[in-house]
Amino acid sequence: MENRVVVDKAPELTQIDDVAAQVDLSVALGEVNLANPVMPASGCFGPELAPLLPLDQLGAVVTKTVFSVERAGNPAHRLTETAFGMLNSVGIPSPGSEEFRKGLLKQYKASGTKVVVSIGGLFTQEYYTIAEELGNEDVAAFEVNVSCPNLEHGGLAIGTSPERVAEVVKGIRRFTTRPLFIKLTPTVSSIGEIAKAAEDAGATAVTVSNSFSGLAVNIHKRTSVLGSGAGGYTGPAVKPLALKLVRDAAQAVSIPVIGCGGITTAEDVAEFMIAGATAVQVGTATFTRPTAMSEIIADLEPLCHRLNVSKISELIGTLDTPIPSRSLS
Ligand SMILES: Cc1cc2nc3c(=O)[nH]c(=O)nc-3n(C[C@H](O)[C@H](O)[C@H](O)COP(=O)(O)O)c2cc1C
Repeated sequence: MENRVVVDKAPELTQIDDVAAQVDLSVALGEVNLANPVMPASGCFGPELAPLLPLDQLGAVVTKTVFSVERAGNPAHRLTETAFGMLNSVGIPSPGSEEFRKGLLKQYKASGTKVVVSIGGLFTQEYYTIAEELGNEDVAAFEVNVSCPNLEHGGLAIGTSPERVAEVVKGIRRFTTRPLFIKLTPTVSSIGEIAKAAEDAGATAVTVSNSFSGLAVNIHKRTSVLGSGAGGYTGPAVKPLALKLVRDAAQAVSIPVIGCGGITTAEDVAEFMIAGATAVQVGTATFTRPTAMSEIIADLEPLCHRLNVSKISELIGTLDTPIPSRSLS
């Protein structure tokens, strides 16, 4: 039943405010306490959006994945809209760690917002180099993007192998004591196995997940629309896929899961939390509606009232549907 507050005379408006104030939106990702569960997804937000969305409204900011060395990114076209989502092959253009430290990182730190720095590499060693270069920075956490193509393994991402995920997490741990969120790739047969490998190797949380692999075809030229040949598919269409991955990962680990994929509304946030996420990241929605995250955050409190919870964290992992031991679908 919905939790309704009946108001029949003006003074009781204060009572509504009191009730509203009682909703606690805070969540904890290990030692990282967030005022609310909403963060931007890596690569989908920048400080230029601050006039539309004050940074201190966010649970934390997450940077675009930064590499140790400067990288140009992929050839054009880099983005294309599809019927139900977006396909991108931006290819992680990166200023390199030194420029990043002097530029974006300094700017984000000055804002007073919690900062999560996404790090990546095309070779295993590159993950360790960037961890060594940035590992002592005073940031809330590092998010390790294990979806980058790994050039020692024929382009296969580190995130496709539990052994390689464990190796990279342990390797990075040598260079930083900061919390580590491991951002997993969705293109695996058992996300639970990969998430568990990350947990056992020392991850603070897992982010589930990165974009799905996709292709758009130009039928006249008979070429891929995207310059790099294929891209990452994101947006509302991937929400059910990401939700299932979140549920499966949350079943396999005791560390927090950060849900990501197709979130556009506060109700989507609740779905992800009920499926097992402690916090969420919003990506493509910001491209279609730059104010999406502030609208989502503003809607969380009234939604908690409607769902009868005084703390949003009460939603986490409350999916009340038994999981068959051998699912047919
Ligand atoms: C243009 C674009 C750039 C992205 N860049 C990164 C990146 O640098 N690192 C990363 O881990 N994920 C990157 N992603 C993936 C997003 O962080 C997110 O995982 C994905 O878009 C799914 O969420 P969404 O459906 O809400 O967009 C990017 C996505 C888009 C659309």
